[in-house]
Amino acid sequence: MKLYLYAQLMALFMSLLKADKKIHCRYSAQAYYRKFPFKFEPENIDPNLCSYLGFGTFGIEDTGAIKIDHYFMDQQLGLIKNTIALKQKNPALKVLAVVRGSFDEFDIQKRQNFIDTSVHFMEQNGFDGLDLNFLYPREVNLGDHRNVYETLLQELHVALSVRNLEFGITVSGLVEYPRAFVPHISAYVIFINIMAYGYGSESVLDYDAPLQSSNGMVGGADGIFDVESCISYWLKLGAPAYKLNLGLSIRGMAYLTYVTPKELRKPGKLVKVLLYNEICAIRKNFEEAFDSVQGVPYMRNETHWISYENAQSLDLKLNLVTQYDLNGIMIRDIGDDDFHGVCGERYHLLQFARRKILGKYETINGISCPNGKTFENRCYREF
Ligand SMILES: *[C@@H]1O[C@H](CO)[C@@H](O)[C@H](O)[C@H]1NC(C)=O
Repeated sequence: MKLYLYAQLMALFMSLLKADKKIHCRYSAQAYYRKFPFKFEPENIDPNLCSYLGFGTFGIEDTGAIKIDHYFMDQQLGLIKNTIALKQKNPALKVLAVVRGSFDEFDIQKRQNFIDTSVHFMEQNGFDGLDLNFLYPREVNLGDHRNVYETLLQELHVALSVRNLEFGITVSGLVEYPRAFVPHISAYVIFINIMAYGYGSESVLDYDAPLQSSNGMVGGADGIFDVESCISYWLKLGAPAYKLNLGLSIRGMAYLTYVTPKELRKPGKLVKVLLYNEICAIRKNFEEAFDSVQGVPYMRNETHWISYENAQSLDLKLNLVTQYDLNGIMIRDIGDDDFHGVCGERYHLLQFARRKILGKYETINGISCPNGKTFENRCYREF
């Protein structure tokens, strides 16, 4: 009886303690070079919509040192400074440096050099931590790579935690990872962003991130063809749900089609990757449809077929975050969103995702309302 009461109290206590879902916003400095109205700069970021802002991306020099691209990220443009300054508007915001690379030949000296230079860089500029976005080799021939990666994570974990810097990783949603390895790497990080996209084909009309695929999909490693199988794969490998972030890409894929009917997996040629803010502006010129099996919208005219992501498709994907009680989400590039509000609400997809996963709103039939309240003026029509 005592034990039962204790368990009840613990459950109550845990639910009170239960942290809000985390929203990792990725901000790519390269978006500075887009033309108006797609040009995106730190002043376009709404820091109150994100719990983490991943600034990037940085690279790695041959010596192992963190590589700052001086052309666009230097002091003159002030991109780093102005991004870090967003913390004044939202003191709870954590700004992370996102580093891309591969860990081939990452020997002890390079690892040390990477750790030293990146810690110095983060401390000097006021970053709160590091998001290591390393590509994991597709080949099964992992051997040494696996050890190097694991060792690097362990060393970074030690070096960053003593300095009170946060440390997490971003991983491919396409590649198979060895079973024994995932619990190890999970122990060294506070979050794992899973890039659950990139499942599409370039030669047949396809979706970048189907929720559930039917048979015959190309793309991922054996058994991982879609968002749902990707997330359950990581959970099966032993990654703790409370560290996993569902990575979302809000880009669409535009194909040139040459056969009729223009349908999924009919031949086509991928001609352009479109940002959500480009797509929402041209939607009205297309015939639109929603694939309710795979949970993806697409649109077509006589010559083109475009699959993309909208609030309705995010709604289905975000159910996984609640269902598995994941840590939260990562949005690949918030500069892809309708940040000017050209098609409606500013940052519609990010705002929608936020309303959906923070548990303060209920989304029913495409309308989000604050829990228990249905006053029209406090509700949002999402799709
Ligand atoms: C179909 O849409 C594409 C992309 O917006 C456009 O380039 C093309 O001209 C359109 N085709 C027709 C026949 O309207």
